[in-house]
Amino acid sequence: MSRPYVIDELISAKAIAARIEELCREIRATFPADERLVVVGLLRGSFVFIADLVRELSDRDVEVDFIEASSYGNSMESSREVRILKDLRGEIEGRNVLVVEDIVDTGYTLSHVIHLLESRHPKRLKTVALLDKPSRREVDFKADWTGFEIPDEFVVGYGIDYAQCNRNLPCIGKVRFTD
Ligand code: IMP
Repeated sequence: MSRPYVIDELISAKAIAARIEELCREIRATFPADERLVVVGLLRGSFVFIADLVRELSDRDVEVDFIEASSYGNSMESSREVRILKDLRGEIEGRNVLVVEDIVDTGYTLSHVIHLLESRHPKRLKTVALLDKPSRREVDFKADWTGFEIPDEFVVGYGIDYAQCNRNLPCIGKVRFTD
């Protein structure tokens, strides 16, 4: 059982949509339009973000793949030891790859995944994170594109959960405990 809490809106659905349009303008300019792009979502938190991103990239061929790394489990604490729970289905050697993450917090998850994918020799490998909490960083890592920098708050919505709940909220909200 989680503690009682309410959710205060931090980033509206409209602001997210507008920011995704901006991010995709830059992403489109970075990857050649005539080369197929492999968009890799980190499960599970990125599933809403990746759905909106790929539809903004409809000017080109896009393949979607997923990788799952261990993260918070049911707690609010990040784990320093990252394990791959589900690997990609496809090969990325010699290909253009965009890795899509929900939040960069300590940085352990994304830096581990990027290191792993780099070892497979993609042609280009870039990362986009919807949210970044720079004040929480423990490893030197920055995504190539970030949607929003946020303070050290626990957030939910738009794919992001607390104990597997609230992924279906259309906005990003912060969790405020009421006990
Ligand atoms: P990192 O390895 O510490 O950077 O953790 C990244 C992962 O932790 C994210 O992909 C999320 O799954 C999870 N996470 C980090 N901050 C939050 C949060 O505020 N709410 C929910 N999950 C979070």
